[in-house]
Amino acid sequence: MILVTGASGQLGSAIVESLKVAGVPLISGTRSPVVGSSDRYVDFDDPGTLDFTGVETLVLVSAGYAEDDVVIARHERVVTAAQRDGVQHLIYTSLATAGDHLGFALAHRWTERRIQESGVQWTILRNGIYADLFGALMAPDDGVITSPLGKHGVAVVTRGDLAAAAAIVASNPKEHAGRIYDLVGSHAVTAEEVARYAGLPYKPESLDVRRKTLNTSGLLPFQPSMLLSLYSSAAHGFLKGTGSDLEQLLGRPLTDTVPVAAGTL
Ligand SMILES: NC(=O)c1ccc[n+]([C@@H]2O[C@H](COP(=O)([O-])OP(=O)(O)OC[C@H]3O[C@@H](n4cnc5c(N)ncnc54)[C@H](OP(=O)(O)O)[C@@H]3O)[C@@H](O)[C@H]2O)c1
Repeated sequence: MILVTGASGQLGSAIVESLKVAGVPLISGTRSPVVGSSDRYVDFDDPGTLDFTGVETLVLVSAGYAEDDVVIARHERVVTAAQRDGVQHLIYTSLATAGDHLGFALAHRWTERRIQESGVQWTILRNGIYADLFGALMAPDDGVITSPLGKHGVAVVTRGDLAAAAAIVASNPKEHAGRIYDLVGSHAVTAEEVARYAGLPYKPESLDVRRKTLNTSGLLPFQPSMLLSLYSSAAHGFLKGTGSDLEQLLGRPLTDTVPVAAGTL
């Protein structure tokens, strides 16, 4: 049996949907189980809820949006429970190799290492930056797109393509054991390109101006530096590298990411 964590989240629910469409039986692991369904209540912050008995393949969708130590503690509990309950294969949705300079990379790389040393078979899916997140990073102000994303572009991907790839791996995990897939896009999308597609004017902004805006916008303490790391990595060309792992896993061209990014403006 396959269990997918974060099953009510955007990526997790898309993985569940892809598995269902393929007719693969699974259990949804979530903090919002549907009453009367086979869903399992799974909260990484509460070790008592981590029951993976009968689970052969665990798809661990990262539970980010928090400080490193919080995310690491969550993932540590999941891997420990997976070892205890005899999970045979762990699939982890990680961060693209090119994201090594991002503020949230450390927790991903720590989790990868923890899984690789767990004794459980594993596959690491190093997911690229979501196309709609890229769009959100360049949200227009008074109808003008201002962003410090630079000119290099980002090889963004859609959650739908990432979910389809995760479902393919989860359906046949042995074939993908010990593999790290770098699931980035086949085209580096620029902010200017998305603005043009959306028919909006584009005015580049400096990292310094954006830093000041983020630092005074009432975000959670960890968020300004994490967001800045995304802008800075993109602006300095660290996220532009394209790849073929995702296309190869899916056996088809990737979804066009420009309309997806523009859809969140
Ligand atoms: N590649 C990228 O561009 C990118 C960008 C942002 C984030 N991420 C990472 O990718 C993950 C999935 O993205 P997404 O778009 O699906 O995010 P999302 O829609 O916010 O979903 C995240 C899900 O994580 C689960 N979760 C959070 N805290 C948890 C906890 N304490 N215990 C168990 N589950 C918990 C929740 O699932 P339930 O509601 O089912 O409990 C939540 O819905 C994020 O959590 C983050 O680590 C990647």
